[in-house]
Amino acid sequence: MPLTVRFMRRQDIAQVTEIDHQAFPTEWPPTNFQRELENNLAYYIVVYETQNNNPQSNAQSIHRELQPGIFDRVRRIFLRNQVTKEEPSEEVSILGYAGMWIMADEAHITSIAAHQGHRHQGIGAALLICLIELASAKHTRIMTLEARVSNQIAQNLYYKFGFDKLGVRKAYYLDNKEDAVIMSTEYIGSPSFKEKFTQVKQAYDKKIGPFTRVLSVS
Ligand SMILES: CC(C)(COP(=O)(O)OP(=O)(O)OC[C@H]1O[C@@H](n2cnc3c(N)ncnc32)[C@H](O)[C@@H]1OP(=O)(O)O)[C@@H](O)C(=O)NCCC(=O)NCCS
Repeated sequence: MPLTVRFMRRQDIAQVTEIDHQAFPTEWPPTNFQRELENNLAYYIVVYETQNNNPQSNAQSIHRELQPGIFDRVRRIFLRNQVTKEEPSEEVSILGYAGMWIMADEAHITSIAAHQGHRHQGIGAALLICLIELASAKHTRIMTLEARVSNQIAQNLYYKFGFDKLGVRKAYYLDNKEDAVIMSTEYIGSPSFKEKFTQVKQAYDKKIGPFTRVLSVS
């Protein structure tokens, strides 16, 4: 399934909030995405399955609807051009989201979640790849995060991408006083981090296919 990752928009908030509630049902207060979108330090991204906007296939479906004849042949060409110029549909089903705050030279991952029905299909990895690429484009030195000590799946994901355990924050989570593992990368511009990142990225390119990023940063 071809994926696209882009920055979160206001129109995504309802879907993202649902994924957030599923992923973090006991989190309080829940993330205020409206406020996060207005926060200059925050970078939130979403991933969705790329719509089939292939002009060839759209043109084919139009062909089937049209009657033959010179008038229709001209109309067909006109319609085909219209389809080619059409913007991709804004109605997308979001499969996951992630966010981070960049402060000085540190990027702190605030959340990452895949839709419950689409876990272990590479969604989390695609999101983390994009966060790391964004942090690198913003000349960040390190990336950090907290994860519940019991959240082995998330820790596996981060270990895979070169994060390491730095320590523990005692009773960090308000709902059950669970400890948090603090994880961090080394300097993300270092040759060793870059080499590992390239290798992991290549493995995921094979697994989930190359995906589109609409994520330019200034
Ligand atoms: C953590 C989370 C984002 C991972 O996303 P995902 O799309 O399911 O994960 P991916 O398919 O991209 O897998 C990437 C890696 O994560 C780990 N992983 C994912 N699912 C796993 C599972 N069921 N068991 C063990 N490890 C798992 C593996 O290391 C995996 O690498 P692999 O593909 O080589 O096996 C997802 O499980 C989720 O949304 N969890 C709830 C929210 C959450 O806990 N977020 C993290 C907060 S710190």
